[in-house]
Amino acid sequence: MKNNVVPTRHELLMKDNDFIVSKTDLSGKITYVNQTFMKFSGYTQSETYLHQHKLVRHPDMPQTVFDLLWRTIKTGKEFNGYIKNMHKDGSFYWVFANVTPSFDSQNNIIGYYSVRRKPSKQALDKITPLYQTIRKAELQAANSRAAISAGKEILQQTLNQQEMDYDQFVLSL
Ligand SMILES: Cc1cc2nc3c(=O)[nH]c(=O)nc-3n(C[C@H](O)[C@H](O)[C@H](O)COP(=O)(O)O)c2cc1C
Repeated sequence: MKNNVVPTRHELLMKDNDFIVSKTDLSGKITYVNQTFMKFSGYTQSETYLHQHKLVRHPDMPQTVFDLLWRTIKTGKEFNGYIKNMHKDGSFYWVFANVTPSFDSQNNIIGYYSVRRKPSKQALDKITPLYQTIRKAELQAANSRAAISAGKEILQQTLNQQEMDYDQFVLSL
């Protein structure tokens, strides 16, 4: 399925007891979604099956965040972060995502798993302008490598100001 959805300004809000769950293979192709995922994304299980997770990617999201996500989970660690996603009809919804690798008995990574819950308004008030600044810098860069390098620099400046590493910063919001 081609992701040619046009974003709108309509927001879908998660409730406190909503958990949006998905599983992927090693390359990020979706192998499982729960009912709440289907509700917020607008896609059925079969419409998502073996499609890349960027199916729900919102164009406002910085590539730098996904670069960090993949670098973290590929080394066997868990990633926490705020993500703006897009419904099939162009609406957007913010989530606080926890993404973890799944291992076999030999400790090999065999796939990835993500649970997303409702983000606090307080966190989004800080994350939204930060992501806007990062995304703007990314879009001005000559290529995707330069974009991520520019994005990382802005993220690092924020972490330096807060005297925190990325995980401490995200969990402090
Ligand atoms: C388990 C898992 C969950 C993910 N969840 C999302 C998500 O909710 N939204 C999203 O845009 N990308 C998500 N991603 C990241 C995508 O794989 C992809 O990196 C991202 O959409 C950016 O796409 P691009 O790198 O092809 O531009 C997830 C990846 C994994 C492994």
